[in-house]
Amino acid sequence: MKTHRIGVIGLGQRIAHVLAAMKEVGWSLDIAGYADPAPVGAPILKDHDIAMGKAYADAAALLKDGPFDLVMIGSPNHLHYEHLLAAFAAGYPIFAEKPIVRTEEESFALARHLTDKKTPPLYIGLVMRSMPIVRAVIQHVDEGKLGDIVSMDATEHLHPEHGGYLARNWRRRQEWGGSYFLDKVCHDFDIFNRLMGSRAARVASFGSRRIFHPERTNVRGAYDNGQPTYALRDAGWGAANDAFHSDMDVTDHQTALVEYANGAQLSFHSNTHVSLQERRWYIAGTEGTLLADLVRNKLMFRSAFSTGKPERMEWNERTDDNHNGADQAMARDLLATLDKGAAFPVTPYDSLEAGLVVMAIDRAMETKQVVDCAPLWADYDRARDKALK
Ligand SMILES: NC(=O)c1ccc[n+]([C@@H]2O[C@H](COP(=O)([O-])OP(=O)(O)OC[C@H]3O[C@@H](n4cnc5c(N)ncnc54)[C@H](O)[C@@H]3O)[C@@H](O)[C@H]2O)c1
Repeated sequence: MKTHRIGVIGLGQRIAHVLAAMKEVGWSLDIAGYADPAPVGAPILKDHDIAMGKAYADAAALLKDGPFDLVMIGSPNHLHYEHLLAAFAAGYPIFAEKPIVRTEEESFALARHLTDKKTPPLYIGLVMRSMPIVRAVIQHVDEGKLGDIVSMDATEHLHPEHGGYLARNWRRRQEWGGSYFLDKVCHDFDIFNRLMGSRAARVASFGSRRIFHPERTNVRGAYDNGQPTYALRDAGWGAANDAFHSDMDVTDHQTALVEYANGAQLSFHSNTHVSLQERRWYIAGTEGTLLADLVRNKLMFRSAFSTGKPERMEWNERTDDNHNGADQAMARDLLATLDKGAAFPVTPYDSLEAGLVVMAIDRAMETKQVVDCAPLWADYDRARDKALK
């Protein structure tokens, strides 16, 4: 088994979990070093008996010390673009966390870079692409079992502790995270793009902050078992102390409507403070209906013309992060890509397009208008075409 020499930029909780999953599925890891002013992921690596390697002053110093088999980027979202450019210049294969970048301008600029032949391979951690249940949903749609997708509704609802973490962590600020939707549900919108096979044409959205805000009275300090509320996880880099009294400027709940160019419609509902967690997709096609419960890892499908019981699929792997084995599956996908040349399940362009849909949704929310996405796609296509010339 080849040992992979790895350099890490932004050794936070996420990259530490990905590295732990890589080790778990059999990678031979040599973490040469990391660039991170205060690596939040250090205790996670220690728990998994993974040595962190050498501390470098910054990304440039680390990248000078190659060669690397893989450079992993897990910094906060506002640094992705800068760190990607630095890693492109170094020339080693890159695994970078989602969202690929934070703004429309960065998306167009990156689209231009990516079509440059000198850009090294880039794999984005849109981990849902590797989830067995998501693969089964995609397969059902690709096999034509649903016919044409007519409409779909989807949710992602988070436990209050998760919401409280988002309200204290760097994700609470647009300047760092982008938006609540960009950071949290660009995964889902990537899969929706894939399922619909068509670009978003018009989007609308409503959202606000009615949960984690300073005017809330009677905020509960403890659960009924005595455990303190909104304090479970270390909020890490750029953290605020209090989920209710921070400088948060992103939404804590949001809804969106999307009409795709092929006429298919999507409604999406997300809330960061629920006691019944849910990540669920209900997809209605001309030939059949599919329900995927991504928290419980169960899928149900029935043909529109079947009078029998629905087809049911269930995956036993359930983990507290609700990734349900996806990190391990992605670690296997990445190894197969690097060592055997297998195709990685998601491309950088897919990642850019997922981000752009979410950015249009956020613009619709901010401007209280239905946003016509045609100009956005024209700018994006121009960025790609320009780079190809
Ligand atoms: N795919 C997923 O399911 C998933 C899940 C969680 C997070 N993420 C993504 O992973 C990334 C990191 O999120 P996280 O939860 O690990 O956050 P985190 O706060 O735990 O980690 C971020 C790390 O970046 C470091 N950092 C800050 N400034 C830096 C700089 N200038 N150079 C290098 N490092 C710097 C911080 O010190 C911290 O250790 C984000 O892009 C996030 O969206 C993806």
